[in-house]
Amino acid sequence: MNHSISLTVNGARRDFVLDDPRVTLLDLLRERLHLTGTKKGCDRGQCGACTILVDGKRINSCLALAISHDGADILTIEGLARGDQLHPVQAAFIAHDGFQCGFCTPGQIMSAIGMIKEAQAGDDPERIRECMSGNLCRCGAYAGIVDAVRDAQGQMDESNQRRSA
Ligand code: FES
Ligand code: FES
Repeated sequence: MNHSISLTVNGARRDFVLDDPRVTLLDLLRERLHLTGTKKGCDRGQCGACTILVDGKRINSCLALAISHDGADILTIEGLARGDQLHPVQAAFIAHDGFQCGFCTPGQIMSAIGMIKEAQAGDDPERIRECMSGNLCRCGAYAGIVDAVRDAQGQMDESNQRRSA
């Protein structure tokens, strides 16, 4: 039996007909929309490579059934930059060498954006590490990742303050 769902993906509405209710958001993004920036690492919720934002919250898209998210607003790594202008978290990962092979990086960046929104880590490197602990990096780029997150968070705080001043 087919199921119809609609999602907003990086600002654009997308309609899908699912012929299998077990299709995950990860497979839908990668295989139907060819948004392959979201990576499939473990496919079982253990590595964080597939992290995206759904209605503003970070989730592992390999564990999320597409059919359960009808109507959701999805943001992936492809939706962050505005033309040539990178999102502050993307720019900070480059500035602080927050990656080596880059496989985990889209998930790290999306998780960092979600974490900054949650505002639960503050500027404490240990708390940031803990809040990002669902995102594994086999290259061990953790020091650069934490520096990047702290830097981006500081910049985003400053620009929010300027906007509200
Ligand atoms: S691919 Fe989803 S957590 Fe590893
Ligand atoms: S940069 Fe290679 S896995 Fe993280």
